[in-house]
Amino acid sequence: MMWTALLLLGLAVLLLYARRTRRRNEPPLDKGMIPWLGHALEFGKDAAKFLTRMKQKHGDIFTVRAAGQYITVLLDSNCYDAVLSDVVSLDQTSYAQVLMKRIFIKSLCQNYCHLENFSMQNNLQHLVTPSEMGLKVSEWKKDGLFDFCYSLLFKTGYLTVFGAEKNNSAALAEIYEEFRRFDKLLPKLARTTENKEEKQIASSAREKLWKWLTPSRLDRKPERQSWLGNYVQHLQDEGVDAETQRRAMLLQLWVTQGNAGPAAFWVLGYLLTHPEALRTVREEIQGGKHLRPEEKQKNTPVFDSVLTETLRLTAAALITREVKQDKKICLSNGQEYQLRRGDRLCIFPFISPQMDPQIHQQPEMFQFDRFLNADGTKKKDFFKEGLRVKNPSVPWGTKDNLCPGRQFAVSAIKELVFTILTGFDLELCEKNAKLPLVDPSRYGFGILQPAGDLEIRYRIRS
Ligand code: HEM
Repeated sequence: MMWTALLLLGLAVLLLYARRTRRRNEPPLDKGMIPWLGHALEFGKDAAKFLTRMKQKHGDIFTVRAAGQYITVLLDSNCYDAVLSDVVSLDQTSYAQVLMKRIFIKSLCQNYCHLENFSMQNNLQHLVTPSEMGLKVSEWKKDGLFDFCYSLLFKTGYLTVFGAEKNNSAALAEIYEEFRRFDKLLPKLARTTENKEEKQIASSAREKLWKWLTPSRLDRKPERQSWLGNYVQHLQDEGVDAETQRRAMLLQLWVTQGNAGPAAFWVLGYLLTHPEALRTVREEIQGGKHLRPEEKQKNTPVFDSVLTETLRLTAAALITREVKQDKKICLSNGQEYQLRRGDRLCIFPFISPQMDPQIHQQPEMFQFDRFLNADGTKKKDFFKEGLRVKNPSVPWGTKDNLCPGRQFAVSAIKELVFTILTGFDLELCEKNAKLPLVDPSRYGFGILQPAGDLEIRYRIRS
């Protein structure tokens, strides 16, 4: 009896949803051919391809159906900040994430910023010593560039942000391996498309990481409780259950360590495959050779342009908000649209502004000086249809929710690239190798990852 009632109720809900039609002033509605599922498969397989197709069909705003959910996608970059600043109508994230950000800003970015930067440099320098790398001076070693960059920056970030001790390199390597197992499966886990074996791998990685991340293991320095320790303490004080704490901590590990490593890979990958860019960056580093270590990172317009250009090509977070109440939004051409309560609002800066051919000529090309003026200063003026574009690239999110770790990330990437270019000989194993393609399942999950790798050999300079 109860099952029949539930089934009927389910059918009624399904029919109600299936009947959804576009109301006046709402964005174009595209439900897709498959009932309930709508565009979910195409969206999940390659979000960039799907949303580009929808943009061509409908313009800068449209609503699609995916797995029963109606998602309005906004691709007019000049109004991102204004639309998302309404944090009452547009709910950001779960409570645990809001808390995470609050605590992050309080305890890392405000109190420890200088200290963290200093200890980040220290940790990285420790990780590239010959003994840590298992290398004799001037002995060549082969590796994949992705793994090389990711493991170094993961370990640096982990030691710095989580306040762990650095004297156990085997444990550190193990944590990185487990993290990667989890990271590789992240898109599948987020879409719940993992198979049984993958589920097991993820759960065992989760289990191990959880053990490593347990605050008692991390907080060995009583004078400076780690930021993560603070975070978990707050979750506990707020009565958050153990499972949620566990998930929140893993998310935390991923948010703080999952992007800088892949970004460093793309920076070095683009440099190694673009000789003019590499030569110009080397000259800039050479020019600052006489500066004190803390000054070296400061005046580097060429490197900054290389990094901005790299992030333009590879930062692909999908920023989503829940529409809490009906809301009117205005596009930059003055056209108004109505958002419906209960839907989701998504912006995907990767498509616009970052890959928008009206803003960036030949957007798929890496041009190391795209963000440089002719006089060598930083280029800020970009235009679309005669209008100045507010942000030509949005790798750190929108104004209402900017990445609080962005300065830390930039310094860490810079420190890694400068250290490698000055302290190492690093070259492609195959001189004419090309950068691997992007893994399309990673669109929506922060910095993209390659579908293959770039084989390199390196040695510590004597
Ligand atoms: C290249 C590297 C990085 C990129 C491109 C990046 C990008 C982003 C973006 C786009 C968001 C906002 C997401 C949203 O609004 O939905 C974000 C949030 C965040 N980032 Fe980063 N990030 C990077 C590195 C880091 C690092 C190194 C840390 C910490 C040391 C960090 C800590 C955080 C935190 C705590 C949040 C808040 C999460 C939330 O509100 O849900 N990020 N990041």
